[in-house]
Amino acid sequence: MTLVGSDEARTAPTLGDVLEIRGGHPLRGQVDVKGAKNLATKAMVASLLGETPSTLRDVPEIRDVEVVRSLLEVHGVSVSEGDEPGSLVLDPALAKSAGFEEIDAHAGSSRIPILFCGPLLHLLGQAFIPDLGGCRIGDRPIDFHLDALRNFGAIVDKQPNGIRLSAPEGLHGANIELPYPSVGATEQVLLTAVRAKGVTELRNAAIEPEIMDLIGVLQKMGAIISYEPNRVIFIEGVDELHGYDHRSLFDRNEAASWACAALATDGEIFVKGARQYEMLTFLNVFRKVGGSFDITDEGIWFRRATTPLKPVMVETDVHPGFMTDWQQPLIVALTQAGGVSIVHETVYENRLGFTAALNQMGADIVVHPKGLEGVYRRVERRELEQAAVITGPTPLTGADIVVPDLRGGYAYVIAALAAEGTSRVSNVGIIRRGYEKFFDKLTALGADFDVVG
Ligand code: EPZ
Repeated sequence: MTLVGSDEARTAPTLGDVLEIRGGHPLRGQVDVKGAKNLATKAMVASLLGETPSTLRDVPEIRDVEVVRSLLEVHGVSVSEGDEPGSLVLDPALAKSAGFEEIDAHAGSSRIPILFCGPLLHLLGQAFIPDLGGCRIGDRPIDFHLDALRNFGAIVDKQPNGIRLSAPEGLHGANIELPYPSVGATEQVLLTAVRAKGVTELRNAAIEPEIMDLIGVLQKMGAIISYEPNRVIFIEGVDELHGYDHRSLFDRNEAASWACAALATDGEIFVKGARQYEMLTFLNVFRKVGGSFDITDEGIWFRRATTPLKPVMVETDVHPGFMTDWQQPLIVALTQAGGVSIVHETVYENRLGFTAALNQMGADIVVHPKGLEGVYRRVERRELEQAAVITGPTPLTGADIVVPDLRGGYAYVIAALAAEGTSRVSNVGIIRRGYEKFFDKLTALGADFDVVG
């Protein structure tokens, strides 16, 4: 029986898209985690703002990077391999406008194209952004982005297949308060304000480590950005920026994913490149669930310390809270906890749909679409919260599964690895969009699987 994580997941499998996984074996070994997907792609866009070439290091070999690379290339940016493995040199000297067809053909399922607006408006006085893709974990609106761009003086023209923007008078500093500390909207403001005329004040900004790393990239380029208390950021626009040379911070979402894989399969995984500071909140929860970890200068050892695992109550939140990207792999581990766990998803309105397939594998997860009566919220509680109540431990058995989204898909592979019996996991290409060398890493950890389609 084929289980579909969500309707959007029904896509014809392409080569390397279907895995047959024989579960029940602990994952043991080392994985190297490279640069963060959610920083590298933005830093690549930032190179458009420089008068000279930029070098980005530790760039992960993932689809989202390929999408941004091809979008930059259709806009005349030359992208070539740098002086070390995993580095890119991005030269915007010949940057130019691109046609709708070219942009649309390369935008793929990414949301990054929206971040091209500010840099292209500064560079060319105009931009065209096709309708966006991205994981089906909610509506993924861009109203915060468009409101911010209008605030900078851009003319935003919604068209049937995308958005055309222009800035005949150039862009000026703005006074922006985000309705919610949106990561993307904060990046939009940063990438636009650094070259706008005058000062921009941004309030209720996202402050995730990837945002702070992007601020580091922009400061290297010559930007003047001050990070104040209470989510306030001031940006003094400058006339010129030059290229940067930057090593991306590590991908803490991938690191957390492999940590949850160690918990769920009762294994032990060394995540080379993982650092404690950016994972503090995750490590607290990991310990409460019954995991143990050893932190070294090179990375972090993750393993299960108790069986069954211990139930917890977790609420996803903006930084420094528990990241929404961490909850899906964690929920698989919580199916092996002795008792009732609760995961409140407060960032996206539809990020618990993946649990249906886990229930078909033997999990006992009830999703409350309106959440449970509230506890403290770092930001104003929003209507879209949901809650998953997970009762364990429940043995999981293999099933046929179709991957719904990036992190949900990763969670399915962990579930198949933890389950007794064989699972066929389809649509795995989505996972490989965000996890570098995914099959190689599974093999290195002793996973028993074949690529069957
Ligand atoms: C980024 O998405 C990440 N993606 C997400 O990671 C991550 O989960 C998310 O930030 C939160 O940390 C990338 O960086 C490419 P948001 P983003 O704007 O920027 C609402 C992964 O798995 N909102 O912070 O799209 C939105 O609907 C991905 O790597 C508006 O209402 O997230 C959501 O409810 C998944 N209007 C909330 O804000 C807007 O204009 C947070 O979204 C923008 C956002």
